[in-house]
Amino acid sequence: MTMTSRRQFLVLIGGGSVATALLAACSSGGSSGAAPTSPAAAPTAAATAAAKPAAAPTTAAGLLGRHTFLTVGCEDCHVIRGTSAAGRVGPDLTHIGSRRTLAALTIPNTPRMLYDWISNPQAIKPGARMPGFASLPATQRHALVAYLEALR
Ligand code: HEC
Repeated sequence: MTMTSRRQFLVLIGGGSVATALLAACSSGGSSGAAPTSPAAAPTAAATAAAKPAAAPTTAAGLLGRHTFLTVGCEDCHVIRGTSAAGRVGPDLTHIGSRRTLAALTIPNTPRMLYDWISNPQAIKPGARMPGFASLPATQRHALVAYLEALR
């Protein structure tokens, strides 16, 4: 993102907010990913799509969500290809937005469910090995949902 477009973007989401400061600090997150290695055999269309790095966020909420993801601990446990998130404890979330269910098929992949999952996974799936993030401000949890739902 150029300086000019970043400034326009920050004006768009309204100056003075916490989000503005966070986004300014994370303007280049996610563009550093390595290109996926090409498989030896001719890939199917589905395999090609699955191997692609994650789409970059295009909305203010999505950008805040990516910044949040990369700074509050999600990245320690999850991979999102095309970003610095490379944790191997939980599932790869590179294309989470195109999945119909979450948490090994236990819940439908809707924004509401994703929000509840991020807030308190154990309430949805007892024994889930992911900590709850209910202490994150709701704005940031909603932004995470916006970011993840757009990863198709
Ligand atoms: C300590 C490791 C850990 C951290 C930190 C963590 N997760 Fe998870 N996450 C997991 C594990 C393990 C699962 C699989 C849970 C299960 O299915 O029982 C999971 C599952 C998920 C799923 C459902 C994935 C799927 O394939 O259905 C989402 C979405 C998710 N995490 C998002 C996040 C977000 C967003 C954050 C940060 C706010 C985060 N996680 C932080 C370990 C973690």
